[in-house]
Amino acid sequence: MKKILVTGGLGYIGSHTVVELINAGFEPVIIDNLSNSSLDVLQRIEKITDKRIQFEKFDLRVKNDVTDFFRENKDIEGIIHFAASKAVEESVRNPLLYYENNLHTLIYLLQECQNNGIENFIFSSSCTVYGEPDSLPITESASVKEATSPYGNTKQISEEILRDTCAVTSLKSIALRYFNPIGAHETAEIGELPIGVPQNLVPFITQTAAGVRDILSVFGADYDTDDGSCIRDYIHVVDLAKAHVVALQRLVDNKNVSNYEVFNLGTGRGSSVLEVVNAFQQTTGVKLNYKIVGRRPGDVVAVYADTQKANEELGWKAERSMEEALLSAWKWEKKIREL
Ligand code: NAD
Ligand code: WQD
Repeated sequence: MKKILVTGGLGYIGSHTVVELINAGFEPVIIDNLSNSSLDVLQRIEKITDKRIQFEKFDLRVKNDVTDFFRENKDIEGIIHFAASKAVEESVRNPLLYYENNLHTLIYLLQECQNNGIENFIFSSSCTVYGEPDSLPITESASVKEATSPYGNTKQISEEILRDTCAVTSLKSIALRYFNPIGAHETAEIGELPIGVPQNLVPFITQTAAGVRDILSVFGADYDTDDGSCIRDYIHVVDLAKAHVVALQRLVDNKNVSNYEVFNLGTGRGSSVLEVVNAFQQTTGVKLNYKIVGRRPGDVVAVYADTQKANEELGWKAERSMEEALLSAWKWEKKIREL
């Protein structure tokens, strides 16, 4: 069984990926400092998979701890690097936290890849690197626009670090540009756990439906779209998790075409905010309290993925519907609120 290090493996996307890695016969080892997750996620993953999982709690910003980990774990064959700070607004207020956490951790891990001969590296990138696109759907060859937040900039810089490292070492890396991950595992054992007021649409919807928030604000209905609200590509987190396993297998099997590759991970379908709101109401039967307010600064009008490259080269396709994703998100919200 191949041992795969999953950094940030107790977080939202990481926890779902750990489950899929185990389903596919890999042996994940998790590092997480619990800065945005909790230890009971480990037990929940173990419950879903009926497997014991090696977990190391430490901060990847501490270089000596990273080095010690690799000294003690000589049999790691690949890394999936999720650990990062991800709140766009917070990154504007505290850029150094974001540059330190998102870049130092990557650099230390890549140094250890070099020192320990680890050649397979999957990185969590984001569609945020595209900014406001010139045409839709967005292909991987679309230009990367100047970042609109320090968070977005860390993803752009990280991709450059990977590209430059792969050019001169034996490292093989795939950067996966996620569109908008939503939903939860079908068991409702794991899901998204935003701390404080959710910034993202679907957790805000489910918390409003659960009565934790009074009302959902729809940020703008005067955009140049059919119903005036912004369009995004919402992808079920389980589909996203499965793509990581496929990408990892591609590297392990040396099926990669170049040492640094980039793939969009989305459904290829754009949905407006109001469509998501309506879909939630229809599939769950829960009436949502919402109002249309002004635009949120920094929002792009419309983004959705061209998924042809991922479909053809990775042989991966998002299979779950938006309704399925929204239902799973609602099931998860009800479970954690004990409704
Ligand atoms: P998350 O916050 O749920 O998970 C990240 C995990 O990493 C957390 O468990 C956190 O405790 C851990 N972590 C953070 N810094 C660490 C450090 N220094 N040392 C050890 N552990 C650390 O986030 P997520 O939504 O699962 O996102 C995972 C990755 O995907 C991130 O890199 C994020 O930027 C990227 N991404 C997320 C989205 C999204 O909408 N969720 C979209 C695009 C890209
Ligand atoms: C989606 C749509 C909002 C909340 C962010 C990051 C991006 C990536 C994914 C990491 C937008 C609208 C939202 C609300 C609303 N993360 N909305 N009311 O902005 O596409 O992307 O998460 O890489 O980098 O920027 O996602 O879920 O915040 O918003 O009307 O209460 O929902 O205006 O149109 P976004 P989101």
